[in-house]
Amino acid sequence: PKSRQIHSEHRVVNYLRISVTDRCNLACRYCVPKEILPNLHHEDIARYEEIHRIVVSAAELGISKIRITGGEPLVRKGIFSFIKGISQINGIQEISLTTNGVMLKDNLDKLIDSGIHRVNISLDTLKPEKFRFISGKDYFHKVWEGIMLAIDKGLSPVKLNAVILRGINDDEIEQLSGLSTIYPVHMRFIEYMPMGNSSIEPSQQILIPEIKERIEKKFGTLESVEPAKESSSNRPDIGGALVALQKKHAGPAKRFKIRNAPGEIGFISPVSSHFCHECNRLRLTSTGKLRPCLLNNTEIDILTPLRQGATREEIEQIFMSAVKRKPSAHSIGNSYKINGEKVLFNKITTQMST
Ligand code: GTP
Ligand code: 5AD
Repeated sequence: PKSRQIHSEHRVVNYLRISVTDRCNLACRYCVPKEILPNLHHEDIARYEEIHRIVVSAAELGISKIRITGGEPLVRKGIFSFIKGISQINGIQEISLTTNGVMLKDNLDKLIDSGIHRVNISLDTLKPEKFRFISGKDYFHKVWEGIMLAIDKGLSPVKLNAVILRGINDDEIEQLSGLSTIYPVHMRFIEYMPMGNSSIEPSQQILIPEIKERIEKKFGTLESVEPAKESSSNRPDIGGALVALQKKHAGPAKRFKIRNAPGEIGFISPVSSHFCHECNRLRLTSTGKLRPCLLNNTEIDILTPLRQGATREEIEQIFMSAVKRKPSAHSIGNSYKINGEKVLFNKITTQMST
């Protein structure tokens, strides 16, 4: 077991999200920016060997969970052997992937062979037409087959992500919730985060309290799910506050169940009730920058020093300097007016790597 732990204020940072590409085979309205961004040059993207070296240092410091993201991670060539390499790094206990699901069905076996433990899949609608409207592509059925296969293969829990937008898919809140009564999935409802300058209007924002009310109206009061604690969190020396943060499958979702359902309902509320105080994560962008917070423009270049021959100690120092710069909290909830005109948050310029 790892003896080292990275702390940021009262938070234990043990989770690294790695964006392996900025490219995607969909163009979802809530994600793509209004203006076309220039393509990144090949040499600006961190090579797999480079990411691997960064993860070795991160694991040495106390990172134990990895999530592979994009863009769409499955569009990058060579992704399976890269994942295999990462899963074999000493100290990495869990490796999962977030995907739009389009390429999942054809690649699930390879993903499982590579050592992936779980997948989170975007699912904003159950209507093929609507899927095309949201994403620009006619791939609903492919995604659905991918989801069914992931469930069949026992990649449990399969987490499904729906970004709910008024006038676009809010009419499907109940149906999407209903999936958790049929399948052992975690159906998660996510508040739209106004980032990356997408074309979504503030009036389309729906917050979690409204979504929850709609679900309860249909299915009755939701039962709260207390996440089981990880045994490794049983550390009297770090105090109750920290222990509480080390829950299994903790993540940003508040977890519930419809009575007697095999699956769960999750609520992710970055806007109405942020989870910054328990944020355990750091990001690595596809261009090799460490990002202490998704919703903050601060980035620390780790790739350039690596390419210039930095030692392992120097890489670890850069890593720790990024942890130090994790803000106590982001400020979208404060600055974002739901019915007003002002969206201060538009200033966030991220190549979308959620
Ligand atoms: P696990 O808990 O490991 O299953 O993953 P997750 O739920 O954090 O990951 P996923 O990639 O499925 O993301 C779900 C939603 O949470 C997306 O809308 C993300 O943008 C959002 N999210 C993930 N990490 C952060 C974060 O650090 N800050 C904020 N504000 N939102 C995040
Ligand atoms: N706000 C909230 N969630 C978003 N996602 C993508 N863009 C946004 C946004 N602007 C979600 C997708 C995907 C997950 C990784 O991030 O649902 O599943």
